[in-house]
Amino acid sequence: MKNIMSVIIAAAGSGMRMGGVSKPFLALGRGTILSYSLRTFASLPETAEIIVVVNRRDLDAAAKSLARMRKRWKISHIVEGGKIRQESVANGLAHVAPDADLIAVHDAARPFASAGLVRRVIAAALKHGAAIPAIPVKDTLKRAGKDGRVLETVSRDGLWRVQTPQIFKAQLLRDAYRKFAPRGEFTDDALLVERMGRPVFIVESDYTNLKITTPGDMPLARAIAWSRQ
Ligand code: CTP
Ligand code: MG
Repeated sequence: MKNIMSVIIAAAGSGMRMGGVSKPFLALGRGTILSYSLRTFASLPETAEIIVVVNRRDLDAAAKSLARMRKRWKISHIVEGGKIRQESVANGLAHVAPDADLIAVHDAARPFASAGLVRRVIAAALKHGAAIPAIPVKDTLKRAGKDGRVLETVSRDGLWRVQTPQIFKAQLLRDAYRKFAPRGEFTDDALLVERMGRPVFIVESDYTNLKITTPGDMPLARAIAWSRQ
């Protein structure tokens, strides 16, 4: 299926846990953290356009550094984000083409979502309306008090660690944002859809679709980047 999906890449965070740097523009492999996602999404025939949402401080530099690749990477807009991620996504949403069938929301901080994974999430979104990649929790989970004393061991049955890209039927995501985004802070986009009372389905993913959060995540990210050359 061609040109059915608009992609919003949330790249407007302030990277506090990384030391206050703009994570998406950090060097990784032969490009930047952001360039990996752009390349993957642009390679899919399903992708009609990519909207990149960046921090105000990065707006000029982003426009300049992406200028040469803008067409090949299907970038239709580079827009300014907001204070919280939800505002950044909402700003991107405002620029999505009116005829998009699907909208994917992806964190720039996850450079290694593979084309295969994205296509599986697309298929599930077309079938169910909303689909998200996730990995099953494998570690033993315990609840502890503030002093570190273990209170109980929690069952990990049916628990998943959720990732992006989260993909939705376009109208569903628009309705969810219109109705619920003004009502508070939400931890992910799927939660807004859940609040609509609409089903969200998980697509099993893997650990390579990691999120780069702290400097300690960089060595593994570099190893994955080089192994993909
Ligand atoms: N993000 C965004 N707009 C915000 C906050 C976050 O677009 N106001 C994006 C980030 O750029 C990132 C993704 O959401 O790609 C996930 O956020 P996170 O990993 O927390 O990145 P930061 O918010 O930049 O990092 P920190 O929380 O350490 O400041
Ligand atoms: Mg953050």
